[in-house]
Amino acid sequence: MCGIIGVVGSTETLATLLEGLQRLEYRGYDSAGIALVHAGHTWRARTAAGTESVAALRVECEGAPQDYRSGIGHTRWATHGAPEAVNAHPHLDCSGHVAIIHNGIIENHSELREILTGRGHVFTSVTDSEVVAHLVEELRGRGLELLDAVRHALLEVRGAFAIAVMDATEPDVIVAARRISPLVVGTAPGVSYLASDVPAILDRATAFYAVNDDEVVRLGPEGFRAVDLEGAPVRLRQLQIDWDLETAEKGGYDDFMSKEIAEQPHAVYATLLDRRRRDGSIVFDELRISDEELRDVKRVVLVACGTSNHAAQVAKYAIERWARLSVEVDIASEYRYRDPIVEIGTLVIGVSQSGETIDTIQATREAQRRGARVVAISNIVDSSLAREADAVLYTRAGLEVSVASTKAFVAQVAALELLALRLAQLRGTLAPEEIDRLLEGLHSVSGHIATSLGRRDDVAGVAAQLLDAHDYFFLGRHVGYPTALEGALKLKELTYLHAEGYAAGELKHGPLALIEPGVIVVAVTTDPVMHEKILSNVAEVKARGATVVAVATDDDERIDAVADYVLRVPATQSMFAPMIDIVPLQLLAYSLARGLGRNVDRPRNLAKTVTVE
Ligand code: F6R
Repeated sequence: MCGIIGVVGSTETLATLLEGLQRLEYRGYDSAGIALVHAGHTWRARTAAGTESVAALRVECEGAPQDYRSGIGHTRWATHGAPEAVNAHPHLDCSGHVAIIHNGIIENHSELREILTGRGHVFTSVTDSEVVAHLVEELRGRGLELLDAVRHALLEVRGAFAIAVMDATEPDVIVAARRISPLVVGTAPGVSYLASDVPAILDRATAFYAVNDDEVVRLGPEGFRAVDLEGAPVRLRQLQIDWDLETAEKGGYDDFMSKEIAEQPHAVYATLLDRRRRDGSIVFDELRISDEELRDVKRVVLVACGTSNHAAQVAKYAIERWARLSVEVDIASEYRYRDPIVEIGTLVIGVSQSGETIDTIQATREAQRRGARVVAISNIVDSSLAREADAVLYTRAGLEVSVASTKAFVAQVAALELLALRLAQLRGTLAPEEIDRLLEGLHSVSGHIATSLGRRDDVAGVAAQLLDAHDYFFLGRHVGYPTALEGALKLKELTYLHAEGYAAGELKHGPLALIEPGVIVVAVTTDPVMHEKILSNVAEVKARGATVVAVATDDDERIDAVADYVLRVPATQSMFAPMIDIVPLQLLAYSLARGLGRNVDRPRNLAKTVTVE
């Protein structure tokens, strides 16, 4: 959740750290800090100014020494300890020489703190992370060089971490390590870098390397060397990075969110590009499962969180319909702890934009441990989820910066439906001509999304009428149901208003009691088979005074009679509709949020990548 960066050997240490933190801010922005070291001296600055923390840090750093060549920086999303400067990283040991930054959670921090306090260490924050500074201090006191001190300290730590440690008495070295939380290393002549995410060091490093779990890296101006926790040398794998910085910038839009909403036609197009071989099989990005194994799958379990979970719920309908397989969708954070049943032939699909969401990774690990084969749907190449899976389909949505997910959702649905068609093909549950027809339909989604985007002004007009509303219900049936869930999530995240997503048929079993004048009901009515039923549900809420906003197809002539506002979308095969119908719902949430003066790219309390449980 937090962003970390480090640099050693640079003549532009301060600028590198501040630039990197700016780019990492989307990971967490409760507070920020840096530490610079030079020949026995540590210089530290920390600020807690919410979304302005890095800007405030810049001001604090005006008096920073310019000639220090090593430094670390951190932007925080608070877990243990309030978002105050005293809890901001870097944390120092008692001597002030050892400085650490940490992303993750040290689970046994209370017992370690008690032991260390008993030995005379004085803590200055209430974070879990600070224990590492004091553990390293102890081990340095026993004469261990920094690499070994960090390695031994981490042997005592339980939990998740991407960590970087400096010691002013060994100033040309940073030691970094990882367990579960993401970490990359970068190099350029005479300089080494580390970061939680590549964009932070993209324009500085010329080569990038992935650090795996329980690997410790010693970085110096001359390069790096890596060992495992036992001290045995390991080789870091070089990453192929083909982004440029522009992809991480707003490209002329007011914010990342509107840029990313606009990029959706391309996200779907790119995800589907060159996926089909002559024999009709699908090109995975990584494939370590045989066709036989895929054909013999008996049951599918999808695990994911938030928006990715909603994409997974769409996939349930597609896989069951097309491949005739029984499918379960689980909230990733629930899966691992409920003693899940994994029988022979269970295929688990982990869906995650970042590929670093800890709940999803832990769920797929648990499934693998119990013998399941795992397919990853991830937007980030070489993400932890992708690296550990037996097969990978990358969504090629491009870097998603805005905290609330938009283009990743449509790309995930496209990738999952492609996978559903492959399963259907291997199992012979759809005729080849039917698969061809569906694939053609899938390829036409991109154009329909573009048509929906062209109607953004209509949506903004409706949003302008709704600025006083406080309660929203989103209804849908069939795949319109996960679309409704996703529409409600977008509205919640972006506007901070109350919004619920419901299966329309479920409303009368309780929530109908909440419907009264002033409540807005947003109904996804595009499914031709369920059309009659959803219109009845709309009539039920209308009769109780709700204001109805309907997402309806261009050819729906009946909707105007029952809805107060209609957001039109092109008609398509129902399984593809979520990728098109979600567009007006994203735009509605976006326009309302802008109208209410919210920060659309950085909703309060949230972080882009959730690397804590
Ligand atoms: C919602 C949102 C989150 C993420 C969730 C999973 O707009 O962004 O709900 O979808 O945290 O993240 P990934 O897909 O990275 O695993």
